[in-house]
Amino acid sequence: MSLETIKQNVINCTKCELCKTRTNSVPGKGSFQSNVIFVGEAPGRNEDREGKPFVGAAGKKLSAALEEAGVSREEVYITNIVKCRPPNNRVPNTDERNTCQDYIRQEISIIKPKIICILGNTAFNSMLGGSEITKFRGKVVRKDSQLYFLTVHPAATIYNQELITVLNNDIKRLFDIIKELKNNRKIQVDIEYTH
Ligand code: URA
Ligand code: SF4
Repeated sequence: MSLETIKQNVINCTKCELCKTRTNSVPGKGSFQSNVIFVGEAPGRNEDREGKPFVGAAGKKLSAALEEAGVSREEVYITNIVKCRPPNNRVPNTDERNTCQDYIRQEISIIKPKIICILGNTAFNSMLGGSEITKFRGKVVRKDSQLYFLTVHPAATIYNQELITVLNNDIKRLFDIIKELKNNRKIQVDIEYTH
């Protein structure tokens, strides 16, 4: 399996109801050599129109945070929990998330990121069973030997200047952590999942 195969499978996917209302599926995008995978919720209107993740208002916030951290979008890999837009941007339901999760598992197993950056509550809940991201953001989680970094969803920062600062600082910290990991240094894990 290659990222290109996953992309084609996502583009042609009809496994859940969301295929009926989408314009375009939105496969993950970015470098297969990335140390980090960013995981959002689901495509919005602009993403559905263009077939690319995080190209609308939330995407601008994410790009700005990456830029402040000195990182370009091309260096990283960006994807979503579900790859098709839910009507009226509703939160994807359990069935849709479960059906779509094969793709994100495949993306992770190919890229083997040093860390996965969870953007907001839907990704937090889907990948780690968590809730209340604002309480847990900034923390590093380890589950099944995979590291995760938690932060707010870029869309939440659109009308909230304080959250922009939070997101930007979190992303800077994430890349400090990645630097440590690349140098094989021990990093502090805040939450260990043991089951
Ligand atoms: N919000 C998301 O969660 N993902 C996108 O791709 C765009 C907006
Ligand atoms: Fe397939 Fe995922 Fe789109 Fe549903 S959301 S049709 S499972 S790609």
